[in-house]
Amino acid sequence: MKILTPGLRGSPVISYAGLLEKIEILRSTLRWAPTLARPEIEKLLRQANAVRDEVMQLSHKERFVEAAAAESVRVERTPGARRRALLERSFVFEGAFGDNPQLLEALEIAEKAAPTDLPVLIDGESGTGKELMAKVIHANGSRSDKPYISVNCGAIPDNLLESELFGHRKGAFTGAVSDRKGKFESAHTGTIFLDEIGELPLSGQVKLLRVLESHEIQRVGSDEPIAVDTRIVAATNRNLRRLSEEGRFREDLFYRLGVIHVTLPPLRERRDEIPLLFAFFGDEAAAALKRRPVRMTPRLREFLLRYPYPGNIRELRNIIYRISCLAGETADLQHLPADIRPDATQSAPANAAAALPAASDASAATAASISLSDAKRAASDEAERLFLERGLQQVGGTVAELARRCDMNRSHLQTLLKKHGIRSKDFRHRPPSRGDDGR
Ligand SMILES: Nc1ncnc2c1ncn2[C@@H]1O[C@H](COP(=O)(O)OP(=O)(O)OP(=O)(O)O)[C@@H](O)[C@H]1O
Ligand SMILES: [Mg+2]
Repeated sequence: MKILTPGLRGSPVISYAGLLEKIEILRSTLRWAPTLARPEIEKLLRQANAVRDEVMQLSHKERFVEAAAAESVRVERTPGARRRALLERSFVFEGAFGDNPQLLEALEIAEKAAPTDLPVLIDGESGTGKELMAKVIHANGSRSDKPYISVNCGAIPDNLLESELFGHRKGAFTGAVSDRKGKFESAHTGTIFLDEIGELPLSGQVKLLRVLESHEIQRVGSDEPIAVDTRIVAATNRNLRRLSEEGRFREDLFYRLGVIHVTLPPLRERRDEIPLLFAFFGDEAAAALKRRPVRMTPRLREFLLRYPYPGNIRELRNIIYRISCLAGETADLQHLPADIRPDATQSAPANAAAALPAASDASAATAASISLSDAKRAASDEAERLFLERGLQQVGGTVAELARRCDMNRSHLQTLLKKHGIRSKDFRHRPPSRGDDGR
């Protein structure tokens, strides 16, 4: 019986012709086999799995090529078109993203990197979505149905690091009562996410570098090398280049990990995404808390649109969950955490002038740096939002009616509502009956 060479997934060139040949060999093996013993069935199953993996790799490669081909026209495309193109290519992303060019850039890099096995280094401030991005890279790659193992390098005591990453043999040290697999072995054929890589001590860095070079690990207390096929995605909120200049992070490891570099912008640099995130987390919190999505008073909304979010998306998410839990139908400033709550008497008045940064405590930090054109745009956005909210209030949330009254195209009006994260349903007049689940 002709058996295919094992380890197909590592084969350098995958082509349709090669795949068809392998499928034919499998078919003729099955056709001519008088009987099949269990070990042979297992072997054939492994071969079938390998062929399936190759098909997946091939389809991901095609997407990669498509994405690369789209690159040449990208410069001319609007952010909206770039966003739609990502979604049309079935880009898997378990979150919300809008038209922010910096974020789109990061997502497009991730999309292209995903089908390859190249190491990816993600950096960004705390709470910007690095872990989410690592999962996105895994989910969009050919290993998506293989293990995804996350390791927080900053949370492992130095003396346990090697055993945690590479495993150990029974008796290798006190407490090693049995053989144990490490994270790299668990992630074999899949992806290992090395979070907070900047916290890895120098001794761990040397060992990691060796694995990257040899694709082999050794369990603590064993001389036997074990081959591991693991895609590496690392993340840090520190400046690894600076750390390596200071001698605190190995430069060779920095270059090895960062073949592809993805930088996630802080939320204050993608403020245009904030209304979208309000709606996203508002719905998520409503589902988790089994309630209607919370509404915000205009002054709370204004505050949150201008708040600097030092904890980035995580902080915004926590705030929305908090107000969804504490408020009734509508949340106001008093539902904010005490440490960020502005003095209600100083809160921004509900008019377009309030869009100026000096209008609230939260924006004071940016007041000095804002340009006139930014200020004008903010004021105009704010006027637009208030206009839409008041209009919807007057027509009881009926978009068609508001469009008619303002002599406006309905789909344009829908686009504007989406831009501001305004839900017409929130303005519907409803009796406070219990059975009403309209939003
Ligand atoms: N674009 C997004 N849409 C929806 N949710 C998001 C988005 N980006 C991040 N999040 C959510 O924000 C939270 C923080 O993200 P994540 O844990 O990935 O950040 P991080 O950069 O790894 O943070 P840290 O450096 O503190 O570990 C998570 O709940 C994540 O799901
Ligand atoms: Mg993280």
